[in-house]
Amino acid sequence: MEKNTRLILALDVLDSDEAIRISKAVAGHVDAIKVGYPLVLASGLQIIEKLVKYAPIIADFKVADIPNTNRLICEQVFDAGADAVIVQGFTGHDSLEACVELARERKKDIFVVTEMSHPGALDLMQEAGKAIAKMAADQCASGVVAPATRPERVKQIRRIIGEELAIISPGVGAQGGSASDAIMAGTDWVIVGRSLYQSADPAGAAAGIVREIKKVIKDS
Ligand code: XMP
Repeated sequence: MEKNTRLILALDVLDSDEAIRISKAVAGHVDAIKVGYPLVLASGLQIIEKLVKYAPIIADFKVADIPNTNRLICEQVFDAGADAVIVQGFTGHDSLEACVELARERKKDIFVVTEMSHPGALDLMQEAGKAIAKMAADQCASGVVAPATRPERVKQIRRIIGEELAIISPGVGAQGGSASDAIMAGTDWVIVGRSLYQSADPAGAAAGIVREIKKVIKDS
């Protein structure tokens, strides 16, 4: 994934025509498009090959199973044309290793969830977040998913993983996080869903976030 606009669209619409329309509109403003269960369950896995012409596709399936099943899932997703898969880290080193090894063979990327962006992540997940980040770094995953809603955690996770791994951060906009705060905390890419796909002008909204990101980088 090329680091250009540093913006990833989270495309959680259900209709494939709408998904294509929005992807076409924001192409050029985003470095990747993240698809997940809502769109894929509604439109089928083949939606990935329809969208990949607009931007690289990250499949957010938060894969969380035993190593063999994890590998089977990632194989299907890579075969469908995705460039990257988001997997959970809490399942442990062997489950993660199955995904990372396959991605290495296929020259694809794995992003590992550390702690999630919503308030409930504080109940159980946050406690394991730093250990998961270290495990992702030890296994040379491509990067981790860390919450834009908690820039201080992004900073801590960056210190743990160093500069080799990327951080992608959801939680900007609808969940209250700010793109510039996340970038200043050490995020490589912000992930934005509702603020883009629910906008009357997704391209204009995306361009606005990219301007904000470029300004904070220039001023820093
Ligand atoms: P919104 O509409 O809130 O969409 O901008 C956010 C998108 O990101 C997903 N999401 C996460 N994915 N770890 C992840 O791997 C997280 O902590 C996380 N928080 C939100 C969410 O499903 C939606 O697609």
